[in-house]
Amino acid sequence: MFQRYLRFIRGVAVNRVGMIGVVLTTSSFITFVILELARLAGLLTNAYIGLVTYLLFPSLFVIGLVLIPIGWRLRKKQTGRTTRELLSDQFAPDDTKGGLFGSRVFMIVGMFTLANVIFLGAASTRMLGFMDEAEFCGTACHSVMNPEWVTYQDSPHARVKCVECHVGEGVGALVDSKLNGTWQMISVTFDLLERPIPTPVHQLRPARETCEKCHWPDKFYGSRLKTLVHYQRDSLSTPQYTTLNLKVDAGRAGNKSGIHWHVAAENEVRYVSVDDEREEMVLVEVRQPDGSFKRYRNSALIDPETAATATEARSLDCIDCHNRATHIYEQPGPALDKRMELGLLPRTLPYLKREALAALTTNYPDSVAARDGIANHLYGFYQRQFPKVATQQSAAIDSAISVLQAVYFRNVHHGMNITWGAYESHIGHRGNKDGCFRCHNPNMIAEDGEAIRSDCTMCHSILAFDETRPFAYLNALDTTDAEYRMHESLRQEFLRFMEEQAE
Ligand code: HEC
Ligand code: HEC
Ligand code: HEC
Ligand code: HEC
Ligand code: HEC
Repeated sequence: MFQRYLRFIRGVAVNRVGMIGVVLTTSSFITFVILELARLAGLLTNAYIGLVTYLLFPSLFVIGLVLIPIGWRLRKKQTGRTTRELLSDQFAPDDTKGGLFGSRVFMIVGMFTLANVIFLGAASTRMLGFMDEAEFCGTACHSVMNPEWVTYQDSPHARVKCVECHVGEGVGALVDSKLNGTWQMISVTFDLLERPIPTPVHQLRPARETCEKCHWPDKFYGSRLKTLVHYQRDSLSTPQYTTLNLKVDAGRAGNKSGIHWHVAAENEVRYVSVDDEREEMVLVEVRQPDGSFKRYRNSALIDPETAATATEARSLDCIDCHNRATHIYEQPGPALDKRMELGLLPRTLPYLKREALAALTTNYPDSVAARDGIANHLYGFYQRQFPKVATQQSAAIDSAISVLQAVYFRNVHHGMNITWGAYESHIGHRGNKDGCFRCHNPNMIAEDGEAIRSDCTMCHSILAFDETRPFAYLNALDTTDAEYRMHESLRQEFLRFMEEQAE
């Protein structure tokens, strides 16, 4: 059997070109099979290996296949012999008996062709599937996609594939995305990329095709209670609680009634913004099922002429508010609040919030400087101001430092020029962005003189604002009570400590 195969191969490879072809196909096929088996056995998990298995080896295989007939053609030209004559030169008379189509050579070639088609079919399906994996999108262009990959893994969509949001339905969307991906490969290779990657992303598919596969307006109803904790910059990093009742409803039967009213099937909100950033509005239009139409203009636009350079009207969709649905970058303050709430940053360290904030927001030239700078800041502070704490709680300081470094590297990416606030969220009205207030402000006025509403209870009622104890509803929970008791005991301890120091 093996002998016969060798004999056959020798026959196929008429010259050096043919030989290279045969070696390429055989070796890339065998390597592919070995790598794929290793991957199935869980030995290989790296995305780069996938790139090699599903892109490199199948390509080499095809090149090899193409070289074989090229070899024959060259040989025919050189020797001036016909295909039939070459066949009888190359193979034993037994193999070529029965005419071109009836011969054993023809049968073997046919079998190989069938095997090739099956192999390439399987390899390319695997390749397409593999390229849809979040792991591939997130790690194949390593440094470039790393920020998106890091923030994605720490988001509510960590189990939703990149392509579910970035590639819509249908063949058109698929082709678009592959063309776009090819361009991205080129721009990464030749470093033509802007850093950070600019947003908004214009090639994003309409949210109706992506987000609405999993969340659709009918599903938004009622309201959602949300308690936000902010820790103060005092010695105890005292917590303060704000509880909002967010009216997330989409409205029923045409009545306006909440935040997702904008995306209810029957409503259409369109806007024109001054520039690409979608930050400053020129006008906003509302069209409703009863045929009513209203246009609000921005009366505060400094230069009305800018309207001439404005963007095309865009229908407001999920992304206009949820621009950070998955790649959620934190602001330093809320990032620390969250870690404190989770108990990762021990409030037994005096002034931890204030000092951590200072350590995080210092401008560091690169990641090594940041790692060291954060550590030195905290060590230095406690050694200078609270030497007793520095010795007694050195383990707590160490662990706080590693938490801070992790927070820093989750949100700041020197390689891509991403610093605090590079990608801010439009949800709400915090940070440097106007968020909802881009449209909900008294300057957006319709012809009848009415402005888009912006009263404080339209989007949420405020059940508690910067209270020292959580909203009464939450007092029922043991955890917050425990937190309050811990705060009290800390406070007593700290007072004693300060008295001691004063003596
Ligand atoms: C739940 C939907 C969703 C998923 C899943 C998702 N993205 Fe995004 N992505 C978005 C949205 C929304 C934007 C921002 C669009 C805008 O502001 O115009 C975005 C923006 C980006 C950007 C531009 C830079 C930025 O941060 O705004 C890149 C690059 C990106 N995504 C890559 C990825 C990669 C890689 C994955 C998978 C690891 C992924 N995305 C998964 C929704 C998603
Ligand atoms: C393949 C399904 C899928 C797609 C597509 C998808 N999501 Fe999600 N989304 C989820 C899941 C699952 C969760 C987590 C739900 C949970 O934790 O209860 C989630 C959570 C969310 C949350 C947080 C909800 C919360 O409880 O705070 C928001 C906001 C959100 N998605 C918006 C979007 C937007 C905007 C898009 C389009 C860019 C999108 N999603 C696309 C499945 C999806
Ligand atoms: C592109 C402009 C635009 C943006 C951005 C925008 N809205 Fe609106 N919103 C409107 C318009 C226009 C209306 C309808 C106002 C009217 O007809 O009086 C509206 C209506 C509403 C309503 C009222 C529905 C009702 O019951 O009357 C709520 C609640 C609301 N928006 C919340 C928000 C929130 C929260 C955000 C930010 C996350 C936001 N909007 C961002 C344009 C916008
Ligand atoms: C006008 C701005 C705006 C638009 C447009 C918008 N959302 Fe929201 N969405 C919000 C706000 C604000 C919240 C409440 C945020 C919070 O809980 O922190 C929210 C909450 C959510 C939640 C959590 C729901 C819950 O019951 O708590 C999901 C999921 C979500 N949005 C998905 C979407 C999707 C998908 C779209 C597009 C079909 C969309 N949103 C359009 C502003 C918007
Ligand atoms: C157009 C809708 C809208 C209007 C109008 C509005 N808010 Fe908000 N507000 C939001 C949203 C959305 C959030 C973010 C909730 C979250 O964090 O998910 C928010 C958050 C807040 C918070 C919590 C911030 C934090 O980090 O603790 C406070 C406090 C607040 N709003 C007060 C107000 C006050 C006061 C007014 C009136 C001047 C007002 N809001 C008007 C939509 C609105």
